[in-house]
Amino acid sequence: MIEFSPYAYEVHEDPYPLYARLRAEAPVYRNEELDFWALARHADVLAAFKDTKRFSNRFGVSIDPSSYGPRARLGTSFLAMDPPDHTRMRALVSRSFTPRRVAEMESRIREIAVWRLDRLVGAGSFDAVAEFAGKLPMDVISEMLGVPENDRSELRTWADLLVHREEGVMDVPPEGAEAFGKLIGYFRELISDRRKSPGRDLLSSLLELERAPNEDYLSESELLSICNLMIVAGNETTTKLIANALYWLGQNPAQRERVASGRVGMPQWVEETLRYDNSTQMLLRTLSEDSTIAGQLIPKDARILLLVGSANRDERVFERPDEYDLGRDCSRMLSFGQGTHFCLGAALARLEGAVSLEEWWRRFPDFQVDTSGIARVHSVNVRGFASLPVRV
Ligand code: HEM
Repeated sequence: MIEFSPYAYEVHEDPYPLYARLRAEAPVYRNEELDFWALARHADVLAAFKDTKRFSNRFGVSIDPSSYGPRARLGTSFLAMDPPDHTRMRALVSRSFTPRRVAEMESRIREIAVWRLDRLVGAGSFDAVAEFAGKLPMDVISEMLGVPENDRSELRTWADLLVHREEGVMDVPPEGAEAFGKLIGYFRELISDRRKSPGRDLLSSLLELERAPNEDYLSESELLSICNLMIVAGNETTTKLIANALYWLGQNPAQRERVASGRVGMPQWVEETLRYDNSTQMLLRTLSEDSTIAGQLIPKDARILLLVGSANRDERVFERPDEYDLGRDCSRMLSFGQGTHFCLGAALARLEGAVSLEEWWRRFPDFQVDTSGIARVHSVNVRGFASLPVRV
């Protein structure tokens, strides 16, 4: 009998042996007590991503009871919608969140990385999360949204509180719920400010839709939900990506050697980190009709976790899946989802990852992780480090 709870701190420490057992013994897993199902194999997770009719996002993508249901929408925006509602809102946002806007961010991302890292040269040792990985993605998404610099550390604290879970407690803790309220309150003011004095940021560009005659535009609560999604999804995941990349390179001297010799580039370091230890481990779907999945009958309204972290280690798809191997082909990884809800920020996340690691490597090629001082984030939504002490 396999016991798998996304709220167990032991699972957060290292979920991969458990995933391997699920893939082998219970690829369609049922947890009666917490009332969810989970898909562990790549083929089943991929099929579920592609079948938005049966696998609905309408009740949110998190297993937490309080983020399940109508509140899901304010927290996660069009991520918690199905077509055609999803199609409309994603299209409206995509008009402003364009590949061009992302590409234009490259020089700014580099400036931010250089500014943050230059201050650390000669520091000897520091926490790579507190000083760098935890800062840069919030700087970037804040600049895109037009959040002033002085407000960012508070937003980061709220976002961190929102994803934290207490050991074995199946829901958002009160501090997290309070932080959610503060984030929404903050964005309400920001939207009102931008309406009065628009800038060149993404939020102002989304607000411009209101002034275009005869065009569809976003309601106040839709705008709030988008800001919230961007700040949480755009910050938490990418922060974890950068620190995970540093950690795993630190643990693998042969891979470090490949980076040092230039045989693999920064994008490959990013891709393999996404595959090997993704910051998003699982996403919820709600079944819209009785269905047979991998031979197992699952009833309508069942809550099903798609275990992305397990799919990325599926031996049916990746050779030697438990090896961190920067040269491998990662193209089938599911770290950004697939199909309708494919991560809107994937290009931005990849760019932030590659630029951050490049600037890091330029200054600190001999960095060492002090494994005695590391601390993990405890969350069902994101996987990564709360602190990662390094010597440089
Ligand atoms: C390493 C970094 C990131 C990872 C691993 C990641 C992962 C994901 C995944 C797996 C989904 C699909 C969810 C589903 O199918 O239910 C998603 C959706 C989304 N992501 Fe990301 N993400 C990252 C960074 C970002 C960034 C930087 C942004 C934006 C600023 C962003 C914005 C979004 C949005 C708006 C969606 C919703 C798309 C939709 O529902 O159509 N993400 N992300």
